[in-house]
Amino acid sequence: MRRGLAIGNWKMNVDRSSAMVLVNAIVAKIPEINADLVICPPYLYIPEISEKIANTSIICGAQNVAAHSTGAYTGEISAAMLKEFDCKYAIVGHSERRQFYADTNLAVAERFCQAISGGIIPILSTSETLEERENGTAFDVIAEQINTVIDKAGIESFMNAVISYEPLWAIGTGKTATDQQAQDVHYFIRQLIASKSQKVADKIQILYGGSVKPENAQKLLAMPDIDGVLVGGASLNADSFLKIYSSFQK
Ligand code: PGA
Repeated sequence: MRRGLAIGNWKMNVDRSSAMVLVNAIVAKIPEINADLVICPPYLYIPEISEKIANTSIICGAQNVAAHSTGAYTGEISAAMLKEFDCKYAIVGHSERRQFYADTNLAVAERFCQAISGGIIPILSTSETLEERENGTAFDVIAEQINTVIDKAGIESFMNAVISYEPLWAIGTGKTATDQQAQDVHYFIRQLIASKSQKVADKIQILYGGSVKPENAQKLLAMPDIDGVLVGGASLNADSFLKIYSSFQK
């Protein structure tokens, strides 16, 4: 049985004081549940937040990680730097990175490799656009996103990785993929991994993201290949994020 995982991606939606209010509320109210809870604040607040959650079950993650270990890469943050502040996870290839910052499949694969070699668990984000869904190429697009990383990093590295599926048309739009639509893609991803390694396929957590809310989390998590959720908007409110997290115990 794979362990549940709820990740809150705060994106660029908090300032220092609201980030602290949010983390304090999560620390104060987190229920004891047999699943992991990760928060991904903006880089700048990671040191302070890591200190706040040091003696709790909450885990710190980052929203991205550099594709290199060190050097002249203005504006980038390396896996080793994240590690210094107790970050355990890093999202790589979020659709917003792919869409607005030209992160290609290859660049995402390089970020993934850096996370692995720096001891950080990469959360490889995969997604398709509405157009790709409608013209029937969604599965090909997702396969390409994953295969590029497998080619570069090797399938064994996925023993220490997480995959998320976040259809672009469902992010921040209020439109969630139906449980079955999400399950179909998650099943496809698991089969793709199984074609290289059954052991990795059995172990890897595959998360759904895209307008996850307290109202829809439980049904999504009931699907056999949905092991957790990656939450944007609803993670900015401690009560709604913790309600989503509580869906694991139902
Ligand atoms: P959302 O974001 O929950 O606000 O739709 C999800 C995501 O970006 O992964």
